[in-house]
Amino acid sequence: MSLIPEKMPHHIAMILDGNGRWAKKRFLPRTMGHRKGAFNIRDIASKCNALGIEYLTMFCFSTENWNRPDSEVSYLMKTPIRYYARYKEQLWNSSVRIRFIGRRDRIPEELRQVMEELEEKTKDHPGLTLTLCIDYGSYDEITTAVKEIAKDVSEQKISVDDITPNLIEQHLFTKDMPPLDLLIRTSGECRISNFLLWQLGYAELYFTDVLWPDFNEKELMKALENYQNRNRRFGGIQNENQ
Ligand code: IPE
Ligand code: MG
Repeated sequence: MSLIPEKMPHHIAMILDGNGRWAKKRFLPRTMGHRKGAFNIRDIASKCNALGIEYLTMFCFSTENWNRPDSEVSYLMKTPIRYYARYKEQLWNSSVRIRFIGRRDRIPEELRQVMEELEEKTKDHPGLTLTLCIDYGSYDEITTAVKEIAKDVSEQKISVDDITPNLIEQHLFTKDMPPLDLLIRTSGECRISNFLLWQLGYAELYFTDVLWPDFNEKELMKALENYQNRNRRFGGIQNENQ
């Protein structure tokens, strides 16, 4: 399997799904699936970093995931704290820059501190930018953007005619990221689940039946190879030279 360097995606997003089913298949509690899934974030992010991919944006916890049982929510909120306590030196010494997007106001204080510290400690890292979406939902992101823009109009900082797709993008959490090239969703579900709705406008979509904890380097390479065989036209027509 060989990848074409010029056709590498610059920005990949992933919907990490199937942790619970992975655990169920093994007669384990769902939390064990989340544990394995968390280690897989590390492995897949390192691989993307090694491949020279610039941006990887992962959907870890949605604005709707609060509806899960308290015990599961609490486990999910504690996992990054435990992981950080154990591996912080490795994270500080790696070249990966870590950021978080989503609402911050509902995140437990202890986790919020870990998130802020990780962002600060890794902010100058030159490698992959790994964005973890926690308490993220597109409806929330777009609503926030609309409110900010409406406020600027009402305060006469901008006029209605200044509202363009570019301006809207400048109000999204992803404002300083390159366009999304590829979305990967694991576990066989073929839906977007309120993830990056605006940003997915021209992304290629890749769905696989593999459960997130089983999504390994081989599966990543398969997805990348599949992506490189797509013919991206962005509403135009096929370039004869391609
Ligand atoms: C994805 O796995 C992890 C999170 C959304 C936190 P799920 O927990 O959704 O796993 P399934 O879909 O029940 O298998
Ligand atoms: Mg799921």
